[in-house]
Amino acid sequence: MQQRAASAPLRAGTVVAIDGPSGSGKSTVAREVARSLGFRYLDTGAMYRALTWLALRRGLDLTDAGALTALAESAELELSTDPDRPGVRVDGTDVTTEIRSEPVTAAVSTTSAVPGVRAEMVRRQREAIRPGDGVVEGRDSGTTVAPDATGKVFLTADPAARAARRGRELAGPALDDAVVAATQEALLRRDTADAGRAASPLTQAPDALVVDATDLTADAVVEQVLAAVRAAGAQRGNA
Ligand code: DC
Repeated sequence: MQQRAASAPLRAGTVVAIDGPSGSGKSTVAREVARSLGFRYLDTGAMYRALTWLALRRGLDLTDAGALTALAESAELELSTDPDRPGVRVDGTDVTTEIRSEPVTAAVSTTSAVPGVRAEMVRRQREAIRPGDGVVEGRDSGTTVAPDATGKVFLTADPAARAARRGRELAGPALDDAVVAATQEALLRRDTADAGRAASPLTQAPDALVVDATDLTADAVVEQVLAAVRAAGAQRGNA
């Protein structure tokens, strides 16, 4: 990624919240925004994925909301908040790669819909960002986790662009039309499940800046987000 021009420092305690559907590129953008600002980075989806990995490992019944909530409350989840060194450990095991596997991806909409699981994850996420100066990424970060964030961004892209991006992450050079089509179908299925559920559906904060990344490079999106955060920070500073 290119070097970015320095500008006036943001106020201490600045939180940036980046939401949006799967495949919009929000992880890449959030990580780069954190790097540019020298902020910590919290990937909330990775927490739901880590918990889901543990539930599958323990053979839990995924329809048992009580068991999932108890697991969320007792699990030892360690997330690196260094944007240059992402890493996730569950009960001491490094699961950074496994949480992106197909079985976890297929089950995470179910586990993350359990209200008790969400309550515990949101509690942990708020604790993680309490020290301030952080970028929090996830579909409810601007609405629930950090409703007072200085800068809120809702990053979206059309389904084909999202499928191509996610397909590239999954298949690398083996990406072809069949992979893109299968990825798009899986994304839309997950979007529908996530958007239609009662617990924390994907919603856009009314005060979020909407960025459509369909025809933009990651760098261009990052520049827009940084400009919006600086503008919001300046406005708040003058208030
Ligand atoms: O962003 P992701 O694909 O890693 O998210 C994985 C799943 O976790 C996704 O199906 C929605 C869910 N999730 C959530 O419910 N709330 C969040 N803050 C982040 C992710």
